[in-house]
Amino acid sequence: MEPSILSIPNHVAIIVDGNGRWAKERGLSRSLGHKAGSENLEEIARYAISKGVKVLSLYVFSTENFKRSKEEVDYLMDLFVNKFKSIGSKFNKENIKVVFSGRRENLSIDVLNTIDSITEKTKNNTKGIINFCLNYGGHFEIIDAVKKVSEDYKNGVVDLNNLDEECFSKYLYQDLPPIDLLIRTSGEYRISNFMLWQMSYAEFYFTKTYFPDFKESAFDEAILEYNRRNRRFGGIKDETKNN
Ligand code: IPE
Ligand code: IPE
Ligand code: MG
Repeated sequence: MEPSILSIPNHVAIIVDGNGRWAKERGLSRSLGHKAGSENLEEIARYAISKGVKVLSLYVFSTENFKRSKEEVDYLMDLFVNKFKSIGSKFNKENIKVVFSGRRENLSIDVLNTIDSITEKTKNNTKGIINFCLNYGGHFEIIDAVKKVSEDYKNGVVDLNNLDEECFSKYLYQDLPPIDLLIRTSGEYRISNFMLWQMSYAEFYFTKTYFPDFKESAFDEAILEYNRRNRRFGGIKDETKNN
């Protein structure tokens, strides 16, 4: 029996994948696949927040994606600038906060100015948070956090004896709650260096749907599947609760 009242995960993360294959199946260029994917990003982000998701992390460009051709990387960066600008103003009006996670190096001034301005503009919004993971790598995030801890240690700000999970989390790119539900589109069953620290107890949901086709009903299906899981966190199964 399906649960009558759905539990909405607090933090959902999506590995946005399959834009290239979506385009190929239609005889289109990879660029058009990315364009379709970027349009869907806005729809899905708005939908997730409207359903009550508090934080939505979207993996849009990994540190490893710089291995792609210059043409593809340049296209993606231009697309991000344009999309972030339009999303930034719309989401701001909708009271949604937008943040970015990832390394700044290797990003152009244009991209950096755009993300900085959106971050600043939306910083006091309270309806939900969209966390765009751009030039993001899970290993680098942990290494960068360790470097910041070490700086604070040298300055006497942190006591290593008291360094626990909660304290360490604050050194990550964003201080966000743990991921409850991790979705990957396109039928790949891997996490490709995504939020390694934050997904320690996430429920994983893989779908063969390519991201440009991952619409509201597909998102609803993921939420339904999440509600069928029994999260135990190392404890004992509670038969009376779905989550
Ligand atoms: C995901 O789509 C978008 C990015 C990684 C930027 P892909 O470009 O990886 O699409 P496929 O995997 O080649 O189909
Ligand atoms: C993961 O997708 C990164 C993003 C979705 C931004 P990839 O398409 O780059 O991952 P791999 O190479 O198939 O693991
Ligand atoms: Mg891919």
